Amino acid sequence: MSKDSLTITDNRTGKTYDVPISYGTYEGDGASIRSADLRQIKVNEEDFGLMGYDPAYLNTASCQSAVTYIDGDAGILRYRGYPIEQLAEKSNYLETAYLLLNGELPNAKEQKEWEATIASHAMVHESIRKFLDGFRWGSHTMGMLVSALGAKSTFYPDSRNMASLELMELHIARLVSKVASVAALCYRHSRGLPYIYPDASLGFCENFLSMLFNAPNKSYEPDPILVKALEVLFILHADHEQNCSASTMRGIGSSLADPYSATAGAAAALYGPLHGGANEAVLKMLMEIGDKKNVAGYIERVKNREVLLQGFGHRVYKHYDPRASIVKETADQVFEVTGRNELIGIAMELERIALEDDFFVSRKLYPNVDFYSGIIYQAMGLPVDMYPVLFAIPRTAGWLAQWKEMINDAEQKIARPRQVYTGHDTRDYVGMGDR
Ligand code: CMC
Repeated sequence: MSKDSLTITDNRTGKTYDVPISYGTYEGDGASIRSADLRQIKVNEEDFGLMGYDPAYLNTASCQSAVTYIDGDAGILRYRGYPIEQLAEKSNYLETAYLLLNGELPNAKEQKEWEATIASHAMVHESIRKFLDGFRWGSHTMGMLVSALGAKSTFYPDSRNMASLELMELHIARLVSKVASVAALCYRHSRGLPYIYPDASLGFCENFLSMLFNAPNKSYEPDPILVKALEVLFILHADHEQNCSASTMRGIGSSLADPYSATAGAAAALYGPLHGGANEAVLKMLMEIGDKKNVAGYIERVKNREVLLQGFGHRVYKHYDPRASIVKETADQVFEVTGRNELIGIAMELERIALEDDFFVSRKLYPNVDFYSGIIYQAMGLPVDMYPVLFAIPRTAGWLAQWKEMINDAEQKIARPRQVYTGHDTRDYVGMGDR
């Protein structure tokens, strides 16, 4: 018997089974058994076999992935092996997107070509602009983005052709590029502002800021510190392995739906306040608290389970989220340009009190990436409904890296979880008069 196996005794039958244990890159935290190996454990031949029951996937690996590594206890995040701290300091968003999508950092020629490709796809079809015109003024920009991403699939019928790697790469580049243009259109429409077209001479983040803030009657040149801050925030948000939206991307993609529809679905999953909508929820919470003197009272409400401490806690991190530390540093740099956002004082007081309180300490609840990011976006002049959109733009690269890996993984099939049925046993139909 191999040492790397699990011996299971079924006390219902007394039978013993050996199930192999396999590992990922790290033996310490990548050990797993195949759930399908449990199916041989049966009480008789007619029995379906044993399943794993795991609501919310607390302990189920749905894929093997080489994209992103997280050690939640140690607060480690790496893309393709590169520590997030190094990427945030030395890389830019498009280079990081290339790394996530292709597995390696680009050389100078590849980076130049990639930047040119992304710039060349930045225009969106005029019909998308007209499509967005149908939304009511003041519509939530994330709702608009989700709809527009889904609508994009109708423009590219060949995006359903997964047999062509070339086409897949084309649609990946289109999505990485166009999601920013569509996001800017959503913002401009929701505020009743005239649309600003992309400028191919600008870098990705600079161009995005220009599409947001330029005006026909007043030209806008973003401060390089704000451009750098956006690059850092986009790098930090670009991927986070198998979270709610990435699993949705993979789930939708597994039916061989086109990547635009899958990205729209992933963006919808991101929209919720427990995931990418948390940055918006944090800002609303900070504005509701309003003053440092109200922080202790708010913490009491959290402990009484009346409200959540938004931007705190994480399924995987049981340690300070490494992204949150970088966002905090970035906030100081942004405030040098924009002036201090006074909400930071409330946020820091919340963090200070929470990290000393046993309720949060015992549950290992720390600030996550969303705790400070909204404060930066607000200082940059962005409205709160744009914060999930600002999360979705860079995460599109991560979703597509996950999607591409899934499509090329021979072991993957259409996603189809099992259930444990708890409803009625068979019963006869009762006529209306007898009910
Ligand atoms: N405020 C108060 N209590 C909390 C919080 C919070 N923010 N987060 C978790 N808890 C408590 C929770 O009530 C539970 O307590 P108990 O065991 O006594 O019932 C315990 O901590 C464990 O929490 P959980 O709900 O089992 O944890 P989860 O892994 O299911 O949920 C989470 C993770 C992120 C959804 C949750 O921490 C949360 O709701 N946080 C606030 C929303 C937020 O900031 N989301 C953004 C996450 S980071 C960005 C991203 O990648 O999406």
